[in-house]
Amino acid sequence: MKTKSRKIVIGNMKMHGSLDFNESHFKSLKQKLGSFNELSITLCVPYPYLFQAQKILMGSNIHWGCQNVAKELEGPFTGEVSASMIKDFQGELVIVGHSERNTAYCESDENIAEKFNMIKKYKMTPLLCVGENLIEREAGIMEKVVSEQIKTILDLYGQDIFKGSIIAYEPIWAIGSDSAASPEQIEKMCEFIKQLIHTNVRDNDDVNIVYGGSVNAKNAVQLCEINGVDGILMGRASLDADEFYEICNSIHKI
Ligand code: PGA
Repeated sequence: MKTKSRKIVIGNMKMHGSLDFNESHFKSLKQKLGSFNELSITLCVPYPYLFQAQKILMGSNIHWGCQNVAKELEGPFTGEVSASMIKDFQGELVIVGHSERNTAYCESDENIAEKFNMIKKYKMTPLLCVGENLIEREAGIMEKVVSEQIKTILDLYGQDIFKGSIIAYEPIWAIGSDSAASPEQIEKMCEFIKQLIHTNVRDNDDVNIVYGGSVNAKNAVQLCEINGVDGILMGRASLDADEFYEICNSIHKI
């Protein structure tokens, strides 16, 4: 679903939307983004709207996916949704390790690794979110934090597990805020992640790195031009079809 030459644009709708809102939102995205074939575009929707996303976006250049998955395949896990269920609706990409889940539901790095593995098993693309909080940044340990998040997966499942995956650098302090991290901070961390992947993963060309945290129509070009950034992950901007369009329009030629 993606290649190195195409910029990646992923929308994370979080817990927003309704049947009515989605009906017009998905249709306007389909219509407005239809010509951006140079981009790899995916919208991660809340579980109940997967069928609606499939129905409306099918046949368009927009892929769809989810924001979480169970680490188990099936069984007595009340409230969970498995990778095979997402696959039933042709979901192609699943976010794991988003900081909003890690804080609210105390997800451990091991949990996240198991979910990552489950997504791979079902031949979908895992999008692993990594990033430090403000205290960790101020203490200068952001690289250590990010490397532990990635290494837990490598240690449990080996280097091939990262093939075809996406890593999103999302500094927690930049999510839902007024401004994104600075280009210098992003470049440094993406370079660090690239090195880490380069040393630990065979076929590392197949691993993409995107940035997330207050991406909008004003900063998208600057963010996508940073060395080592293969695309963007956006929350709020994915809920506004005009802004989504402006972002795609501004970066599709990069
Ligand atoms: P934001 O969210 O773009 O609204 O900051 C990003 C994210 O949490 O993925």
